[in-house]
Amino acid sequence: MKIPFKSLISFDKNSSIPLYIQITNAIIKNIQAGILQTNTKLPGTRELAELLDVHRKTVIAAYDELLSQNWVEVIPQKGTFIATRLPIIKPSILIENISKEDWRNKLKKRINDNSAIYLPPHIQQKLAFNDGLPDVRLAPRHEWARLQSHYIRYADPMSVGYTDPQGSIRFRTLFAKYLNETRGIQATPKHIITTRGSQMGIYLAGMAILQKGDTAIVGELSYRAANLTFMQLGAELITIPVDEDGLQTDVIEDICKHKKVKMIYITSHHYHPTTVTLKPERRLRLLALAEKYQFFILEDDYDYDYHYANTPILPLASADRHGWVIYVGSFSKQIAPTFRVGYVTAHESIIEEMTKIRRIIDRQNDTILEYCLADMLENGDLKRYATKAIKVYKERRDFTCLILKDALGDKIDFKIPDGGMAIWVNYDTSIPLQSLSEKVAKQGLYLANGQTYKEENPTLNACRMGFASMNQKETEDAVRILKKAI
Ligand SMILES: Cc1ncc(COP(=O)(O)O)c(C=O)c1O
Repeated sequence: MKIPFKSLISFDKNSSIPLYIQITNAIIKNIQAGILQTNTKLPGTRELAELLDVHRKTVIAAYDELLSQNWVEVIPQKGTFIATRLPIIKPSILIENISKEDWRNKLKKRINDNSAIYLPPHIQQKLAFNDGLPDVRLAPRHEWARLQSHYIRYADPMSVGYTDPQGSIRFRTLFAKYLNETRGIQATPKHIITTRGSQMGIYLAGMAILQKGDTAIVGELSYRAANLTFMQLGAELITIPVDEDGLQTDVIEDICKHKKVKMIYITSHHYHPTTVTLKPERRLRLLALAEKYQFFILEDDYDYDYHYANTPILPLASADRHGWVIYVGSFSKQIAPTFRVGYVTAHESIIEEMTKIRRIIDRQNDTILEYCLADMLENGDLKRYATKAIKVYKERRDFTCLILKDALGDKIDFKIPDGGMAIWVNYDTSIPLQSLSEKVAKQGLYLANGQTYKEENPTLNACRMGFASMNQKETEDAVRILKKAI
């Protein structure tokens, strides 16, 4: 029986996949389906090229590929045949009869918690009052793409290979200067490690300083992912109150008098979630307490650049003379969350320890991204973009606060935040956030359901409402949906 090769081998000349690969794959598919059987003779290359109306070289390349994958064999003077021993007869079927529970029992489960934080929401809605995220549409994406493409093509082979697990020295040198100039942090490259984001920095810092059973202090409702990280590392957490001036430092001293405290985690600039700024007197007090009681301060400055009331308050790290502050940040809010470059600056010995730990979970950072950032720091693009973004986000903060007050003033309560990208909003108890969140989701609006805060404080009916990622029209639409649902 004559085999209809022309109809068996289909391909798309406009596809980005090379023709010879498409032809190879089509022939393999036919072998796997049993249509082309062992010992079947394939047409000669000239004949198949004519049949398929492609260049003969394309068919030769396809046959070479099939030969190298052992799908065909060549018998001299006779031609190309489907191989007697085929490489894989059938793709293996995934084990379906072992239940998920069975598999779980086989694992050493380190995380026995199904908190949403481990599986954060992938926001599907176009409109979103998210946790406080930037508008990635404004990010310098063309500049980033141009640099990335340049370095992928032309970076010297050494820098495209395995590099320093502490991060690119060029980036760390420029960034140390930037930290000095903009945040008063007197770091040099040896005081910096780059990470894939703040979260990795928090984890590495926790690994470096916390032992099982150590006491760590966090503020009430504190950033959940950080809390879970410390708990996972075996720390016992003590929660302290936070008021309009930030963490209550008096309480810290009371605790230190009775207990050895190893670390305190702070989001000093804009407290996560309530957005308050840790006031200067309390900052000084906290530093003095760290020296007196010898505990580390893990300062997570996740959105330092966005401060609207006045110039940003310098981080605690800028006033630390004894090495108690470990300072963490990233470019997730400054550029985009997918731009995974974060950093930690701390005493050299802490950085060395963190580098060793980092080495075993991730060989190195993304050197090319660090090069892109280094260029943006050097040519001023990053500063220019930050200036533009601050202006836009300040307008969005003002606009969002205004229309929220206007539309829902009697149902919600909030203070205008001095900085950051979110408003901390308390809802009237007659409007349970959980059901409101479900209701608006169906209308195309994401609103956090406030459950993580409720778990800690059942009287709370509050959530963060990010204002930075929507423009005015989108915010209007979002508030309209919210108002209608309420
Ligand atoms: C307070 C705080 N810390 C750390 C992070 C982690 O950010 P990333 O790992 O993207 O730098 C976030 C993310 O939103 C955050 O809100």
